[in-house]
Amino acid sequence: MIKEIIDLRSDTVTLPTKEMKQAIIDAKLGDDVFQEDPTVNKLEELAANITGKESALLVSSGTQANLISLMTNTNHGEQVIIEAQSHIYWYEVGGISGIAGLFPKIVKSDMGAPNPVDIQTAISPNDIHFPKPSLICLENTHNRHGGTIITPKQIKPISKIAKSNKLKLYMDGARIFNAAVALGIDVKKLTQYADNLMFCLSKGLSCPVGSLIVGSTNFISKARKYRKLLGGGMRQAGIIAAPGIIALEKMIDRLKDDHNNAKHLSNQLATIPGISIDKKRVQTNIIIFDITNFKMSEEKFIRELKKEKILALSLGKNNIRMVTHRGIEKEHIDRTIEIIANISK
Ligand SMILES: Cc1ncc(COP(=O)(O)O)c(C=O)c1O
Repeated sequence: MIKEIIDLRSDTVTLPTKEMKQAIIDAKLGDDVFQEDPTVNKLEELAANITGKESALLVSSGTQANLISLMTNTNHGEQVIIEAQSHIYWYEVGGISGIAGLFPKIVKSDMGAPNPVDIQTAISPNDIHFPKPSLICLENTHNRHGGTIITPKQIKPISKIAKSNKLKLYMDGARIFNAAVALGIDVKKLTQYADNLMFCLSKGLSCPVGSLIVGSTNFISKARKYRKLLGGGMRQAGIIAAPGIIALEKMIDRLKDDHNNAKHLSNQLATIPGISIDKKRVQTNIIIFDITNFKMSEEKFIRELKKEKILALSLGKNNIRMVTHRGIEKEHIDRTIEIIANISK
């Protein structure tokens, strides 16, 4: 009998491993604003190497990483081409405009991957009426599309358009390692076309805090200044970096367990009357399903699950999100299915 809460709201709820907590205690520390924290320096070097970029910068969150990267890649008032369902556009408090002062030009996509023709069309010509386009943003894996992957083949033509229009290509790669593991490829195959990107330590990789921005040395030194401007200059940040090193050395491969569990959960959900799920979108650890034909509202559905200590997230319009992560095992999924099948009766 499972007694603990089954928390399927997000992979951000993962707690650090025992080894991570010990590494925090043992971490060699220094003042990172002076770039003197050896643990942060080691993590940043590791992050740059693993993604095939020159340099890296540890920041406090994915949202901060995106904001710093937007500011570093652009000048105030310029145009950013961005996918319509992207996290930057939906869930980052409008910092793209409110703080970075940028004009988002929205493009639609097929499961997160915009058509290169739509990107080309969105780039405003050099005309007195339009803001100057300077950046294209992609999100990989794509959260609101259900953890979908943008493949190297899909990224390459977009990077060509960026280059030929003298724009930068940035990737919100909060879950880029999920994409690489699911495709069974080196993450560099996904990062090679982006000028710079960020990824999160605090999601499936199980760290308590932190994201990394990676790019050219020039880009990262400029980003370092924006981090300071935004109050993100941390001091003995080695306590954050220490579990990050373990994440990059030991936690990437296990993401495949989360993907297998997500497949299992989505296959089972699909058998419950009233639940509609687009299985081709279940490519990594995120599952989004529709309960329009279920006999209860989204709010009630979430409430009924909560009574049984199962937590899920409402996305609006009858859509529910569940995310698999370390700590969610087959038995938790089977219990979740049992409860949903019961409340459907
Ligand atoms: C794709 C994507 N980008 C950025 C973020 C922001 O990360 P954080 O919650 O660390 O600010 C998230 C968080 O879920 C995300 O899914």
